[in-house]
Amino acid sequence: MAKTVVVIGTEWGDEGKGKITDYLATRADVVVRSQGGNNAGHSIFFAQKKFALHLIPSGIFNPKIMNIMAGGMVINPKALAKEIDNLIKQEITDFQLYISDRAHVVMPYHLELDRLYESLKNENALGTTKNGIGPAYADKATRLGIRFGDLIHKDSLFRQVNNALAFYNPVFETFGKNTFSPEQITEEYYIYGQMFEKYITDTSILLDKAIKADKYVLFEGAQGTMLCLDHGTYPFVTSSSPTAAGVPLAAGIAPQYIKEVVGVTKAYSTRVGAGVFPTEFEDEITKYIREKGHEYGTTTGRARRIGWLDMNVIRHAVRINGLTGLAVTLVDVLSEIKELKICIAYELDGKIIDYIPGNYDEYKRCKPIYDSFPGWDEDITQIKNFEALPENCINYLKAIEMLSGTKITVLSLGPDREQTVILHNYF
Ligand code: IMP
Repeated sequence: MAKTVVVIGTEWGDEGKGKITDYLATRADVVVRSQGGNNAGHSIFFAQKKFALHLIPSGIFNPKIMNIMAGGMVINPKALAKEIDNLIKQEITDFQLYISDRAHVVMPYHLELDRLYESLKNENALGTTKNGIGPAYADKATRLGIRFGDLIHKDSLFRQVNNALAFYNPVFETFGKNTFSPEQITEEYYIYGQMFEKYITDTSILLDKAIKADKYVLFEGAQGTMLCLDHGTYPFVTSSSPTAAGVPLAAGIAPQYIKEVVGVTKAYSTRVGAGVFPTEFEDEITKYIREKGHEYGTTTGRARRIGWLDMNVIRHAVRINGLTGLAVTLVDVLSEIKELKICIAYELDGKIIDYIPGNYDEYKRCKPIYDSFPGWDEDITQIKNFEALPENCINYLKAIEMLSGTKITVLSLGPDREQTVILHNYF
């Protein structure tokens, strides 16, 4: 059995990674969030209560699980304090949380910059979550960033904040925005440093030890492959690398430690925010899927765009991530739809292509080529094994395996943990 499992979204996020992660987390010793920030989000039901997690890893409800927020993350201390506070208010007080001293801090001016960039782009705006994620990662690259470990060293905190604001305050002034005081920010964020000091450590060392001690380590992905800064639909992407290759870098572990990579794939597709989405459609079925699948963003509440499953996208994710299995989610949402479609290739300027064009305008010109599949009427939410599924559902799932060249290892037939069919034991 694998000791390290990476959960990756194969599309544009919101594939149901949260549910698969929660399921696997019950068997893990360590749960790691390696990239992104509070642009992600999923709800967890625990002890009859609903918890919204945006930053904290999913193993937090089990006191035996070590939860790691790794160095590739960008963390907003205010949002983290709120999340921890919410746990404590709901009597989750016994937990193990570790925050990498290398993780970058999302500062208040990053949120302002995110809003400013978006407003200046007008109709080309990305539709970001406006959580300052892009500007925080940009500062990491421009070397103006603040790292979590800096929060407990007032001098280096002030130096870095001052460097950043020497550049950004004149920008804010130019655009008629309020400027920020480096002294005030340093005072405020130093207090966060004191608050979080007990969690801050070199998480790479912890992880290395855990892996060498043969612990079960689960890396929970955020966003999805098509939102990857390198391999997604650039520039309509997030600013980190939500791919399997991104995990060792972001978590600070050796790449050969990654054993299994499960790609979470929705039985249809969705996307929030702007950007190319070839299989998007808008009709009665869209409304049916959106309502039945609760296709509204966990972080922003925005209605998600809906499309048919796109095998060019899934094959791209299989290749980029080296997926060892697919977890197909929300299959139950497709019950009672007469005809289902799967995009098998694109037509681009009269040519049939089976890949994702790198150039954004070329990608926008791609037209999906579909195969049709008869749907099924039965409610499948209580089914416990693959063979008991309606024949048309089995055919649809087998087509996904055949067209992706990847085995389905998990099926999700409803939101509860019990509504999961496991075809391969990960832990
Ligand atoms: P940002 O990550 O807030 O900068 O947003 C960039 C793009 O990624 C936008 O289109 C967002 O809607 C999208 N995005 C970011 N995080 C998620 C997520 O967790 N699920 C789905 N889309 C996301």
